[in-house]
Amino acid sequence: RVEIKDWDKYKDVLESRLSIAKEFTRQIINKARFNPKKIVMAEGNYEKILRASQKIVEEGFATPVILGDEAEIKELADINNINLEGCEIIDPAKSDKLEEYAEQLFNQRQRKGMTKVEAKRRLIRITNYYGSMMVLNGEADCMLTGFSRSYPESVKPFLETVPLQKDYKVPSGSYFMVFKENIVLCADTTVNIDPDAEQLAEIALQSTETWKKFDTDAKIAMLSFTNFGSVRIPRTKKVSDAMKMVKEKHPELIIDGDMQADTATYPPIAQDAFPFSAIQGDANTLVFPNLEAGNIAYKLLYRLGGGTAIGPILQGFCKSVHVLQRGSDVNEIVNMAAIAVVDAHYKEQHKDEICK
Ligand code: ACO
Repeated sequence: RVEIKDWDKYKDVLESRLSIAKEFTRQIINKARFNPKKIVMAEGNYEKILRASQKIVEEGFATPVILGDEAEIKELADINNINLEGCEIIDPAKSDKLEEYAEQLFNQRQRKGMTKVEAKRRLIRITNYYGSMMVLNGEADCMLTGFSRSYPESVKPFLETVPLQKDYKVPSGSYFMVFKENIVLCADTTVNIDPDAEQLAEIALQSTETWKKFDTDAKIAMLSFTNFGSVRIPRTKKVSDAMKMVKEKHPELIIDGDMQADTATYPPIAQDAFPFSAIQGDANTLVFPNLEAGNIAYKLLYRLGGGTAIGPILQGFCKSVHVLQRGSDVNEIVNMAAIAVVDAHYKEQHKDEICK
């Protein structure tokens, strides 16, 4: 048995980190509560989704619309002593919107190999497609899925049906990593496997928008294994090219790179070696050069770095649609629901500016 010396010291550090994360999520919930929205919970046949729905109602920031077989959902709630008062339940298979949504889905996808029969008999009955149609038609304001399926499987119905914001060609995924002293947004941690310079620039801009939803200006570090051209090969040039593209479109933004992760986050390095940089170790947004780096980094920050991960936040879609990390716990689902509501506020307010 390993004896941990100074346990009380570690306990204090861990508890204070947790309390900062709790404070941050409380702020998000309070912001969401300011203007409650309807949120589709696409996986009504899971206890944690129902428990989270009850909490969302108790917190008063949204009305959950739970999708699935009504009798099964009610039975699951009863067995687990979950009160679903304040939630709506819709069974896509029995809904009077089924035909209309199937037609709409078919119209969207008829030139992508989908047949009318497939749309009507199968796909629209899948809650991820039905929920997307609800959000697209304004029957709900935002949506959560992904609790029970893999990320790629859950994000595909959104990629197929929900339009991107007009300035973007790709969406991306981010996490807020909350530490004792600061919060950093990490992107892309979930979607684009090998983004090119233009896509990296979009990821940076989408992350800026994510911060904006929480009334904060982004300070973006475009990360690589190099500092400002120290090795000049195509994969590092891609990063500095992306930085230039962002700067050209939005000269007001604080962004720099290529730079190493510690140059981005530890002030003495930039003060000493890169005083010209717009980022002086004070980045609050880390844009990774590819999905390996982004996904590995946020998981290490979480598991070994003691950060609390809040996300994944899906960025770049016209509507507030989000994919949970598979098997999220109840609090994580509630936090993601609050983020989805705040995202819905932003997309409602900026609708004309961001959507076609
Ligand atoms: N940006 C924009 N559109 C896209 C993208 C993209 N990056 N990828 C696919 N699409 C579109 C396609 O153009 C297509 O649209 P269309 O049918 O209207 O023409 C639609 O999405 C579906 O395309 P597919 O070819 O079926 O999708 P693909 O097989 O390329 O998968 C996916 C897309 C799921 C995003 C894939 O790139 C992927 O697996 N990414 C990594 C996901 C992942 O594993 N993340 C890490 C784990 S998540 C976590 O840790 C929380």
